Amino acid sequence: MIAVAAAITVGVATAASGRSQQSVTSRRAATAAPTWDAVAPVFAAKCVSCHRIGGIAPFSLTTAKSAQQHAQAIALMTRLRIMPPWMPGADSPPFQGQARRILTPGELSLIARWASGGARVGHARAISSQATPETAPGRSVTLRPAHAYRPHASGGGTDDYHCFLLDPKLTQNSYVTSASIEPQQAGIVHHVILFDATGQNVADARALDAKSHGRGWTCFGGPGLSETKASTDTLASDSLGAPQWISAWVPGHVTNDLPAGTGVLVHAGDLVVMQVHYNLLHDRSQKAVDRSSALLRFVPAATTSLIPLSTYLLPAPVELPCPPGVHNGNCTRQAAFDDEVKKYGADAAVLPIGLLYLCHEQLAQAQGSTTSCTRTVDRPLRIYGVAGHMHLRGVDIRIDLNGRTLLHIPHWSFHWQDAYYFDRPVDATTGDSLRVTCRFDNSATHQPVVNGKPLPPRYVLWGEGTTDEMCLGLLQVASR
Ligand code: HEC
Repeated sequence: MIAVAAAITVGVATAASGRSQQSVTSRRAATAAPTWDAVAPVFAAKCVSCHRIGGIAPFSLTTAKSAQQHAQAIALMTRLRIMPPWMPGADSPPFQGQARRILTPGELSLIARWASGGARVGHARAISSQATPETAPGRSVTLRPAHAYRPHASGGGTDDYHCFLLDPKLTQNSYVTSASIEPQQAGIVHHVILFDATGQNVADARALDAKSHGRGWTCFGGPGLSETKASTDTLASDSLGAPQWISAWVPGHVTNDLPAGTGVLVHAGDLVVMQVHYNLLHDRSQKAVDRSSALLRFVPAATTSLIPLSTYLLPAPVELPCPPGVHNGNCTRQAAFDDEVKKYGADAAVLPIGLLYLCHEQLAQAQGSTTSCTRTVDRPLRIYGVAGHMHLRGVDIRIDLNGRTLLHIPHWSFHWQDAYYFDRPVDATTGDSLRVTCRFDNSATHQPVVNGKPLPPRYVLWGEGTTDEMCLGLLQVASR
């Protein structure tokens, strides 16, 4: 956000200083400049999923007038490729739906000419935001939390992470083929991850929910189920014992359907945990009450032969020492360890050690701002989707297969987390190397801001909390 505001200020200043010399040419350009009629289809296709009344973006782009008011900012943000938001770098493989997020050179120049020509309104017909047509098979089920929830950020922050328990009341094993979220307060629902709670996690989720009288629980890094209790057993599995992801969703998400022919298998009696990230940046009053719902499509497993997707986790150790020259009581690894035990219990604090073991690393190798881990594929896999996860100190994340990039996010933003499905699934085979590499910035100027002030730097370990870190690659795979 700070970068966004600064970029706009610079853009406005440049525009103002250039005005006097250019008045003649720009007047001439204006006569030929495109009007709203020409740019509206681009905004309709690539902006209004977020930029509409009640959408997550700060203004609507559905009318010529509102677009005109923001024309300079629009020209700048599109030229800098900050908008529309698309996090994967150009070195990532093609993903489904990316054409709806990346402006073509022709569209960019059209927007630039529209803005510099005075953002003329033309016929000014308003556009409506069309929903993406869904083609996945199955019965649609809307799942709503038992109660509305008032998101609030503690300690002067602007984010709240809340987990809601949803019960699909499945009496038979079924595949999820599509998942989307119907945000009730679209302006604050920033991203959502749906987890399948099965086995022991059903009991855990019910216990957490009961403790909150059915209102759900705070869950920053993950849903807070048994997965935090790492053991050598869970480290040996693809998912490291973590709950299966059903889907990740962000507003304006390009596709809600899982790849054609695939589904996530959920068992009779399973629960869905909906982790909602509320961003309260535009709602400082924190008065909004939200009861967002999840729309899932289910196909009974007995009636179909879909390919079951499962989660393959690729974590790397996080061992971030204090920046050079900083010395305080929280700069030792022991202090970070004691802090984790205090916050999450002895079980969670086993994770930093478990990760070194999983990644065959010595502590000295793992320490530093860049970390990576390689896992050897133990059977033929087809990789359909990929996601990366870090917290607030993350800068860059890369996931590769034998050195071939599957996902690279060169400018990590915690606020734009999404899962990406490949245009063409990628095959891996026994003995292949899957690697995740993360770069962090733990310097004094890049610390999480609490109560308007950056926290003092400290030694940071892998952990669930806002001020802890993670380096996690996530794949959606099927056995071949
Ligand atoms: C996926 C949702 C999404 C899409 C798609 C999107 N935007 Fe945005 N846009 C946002 C959000 C949210 C913000 C507020 C800044 C932030 O949180 O990063 C924003 C901010 C902006 C801003 C800066 C406003 C300000 O004052 O801070 C401009 C200009 C903008 N968008 C233009 C566009 C244009 C033009 C398109 C299409 C070509 C587009 N956006 C597509 C979500 C989106």
